[in-house]
Amino acid sequence: MKTFELSFSVNEKVRKLSVPYGKTLLEILRYDLGLTGTKEGCGKGDCGACTVMIDDEPVNSCLVLAPQVEGRTVITVEGLGDEKALHPIQEAFLREGAVQCGFCTPGILMAAKALLDKKPRPRELDVRKAISGNLCRCTGYAKIVKAILSASGTD
Ligand code: FES
Ligand code: FES
Repeated sequence: MKTFELSFSVNEKVRKLSVPYGKTLLEILRYDLGLTGTKEGCGKGDCGACTVMIDDEPVNSCLVLAPQVEGRTVITVEGLGDEKALHPIQEAFLREGAVQCGFCTPGILMAAKALLDKKPRPRELDVRKAISGNLCRCTGYAKIVKAILSASGTD
């Protein structure tokens, strides 16, 4: 397969790698860069498990091909926080019990971050809209919505 030299920023680090044109951003993150926090669910844009931020917008990384991220800025869940320094949205998810199996959580955290960056004091409807592309089979969403509102201080 034909490859090209890709250069883009991931979690504030410039990454350069040779990749096939048809490789998805999700595959690059997980298999080339070892950033396995971003999950693969459906692989076709339906579940939101693979959500990352590209230039501040939440995007399904399974639908993005390598050339589309050339020169762009990607933030994954690993860029949000870690065990030693959780992001306030992650803390809120723990506090509110918004995580069960956790498979949907990285994608929902990134959708929530994109919302709160743009709208720090969202209404419940804004939150529900922002995560409407993210499927969760476990929680029933109530605790997730509460956690995002709690992170924003509007609960
Ligand atoms: Fe990308 Fe489901 S894995 S939307
Ligand atoms: Fe299991 Fe959301 S916590 S899918």
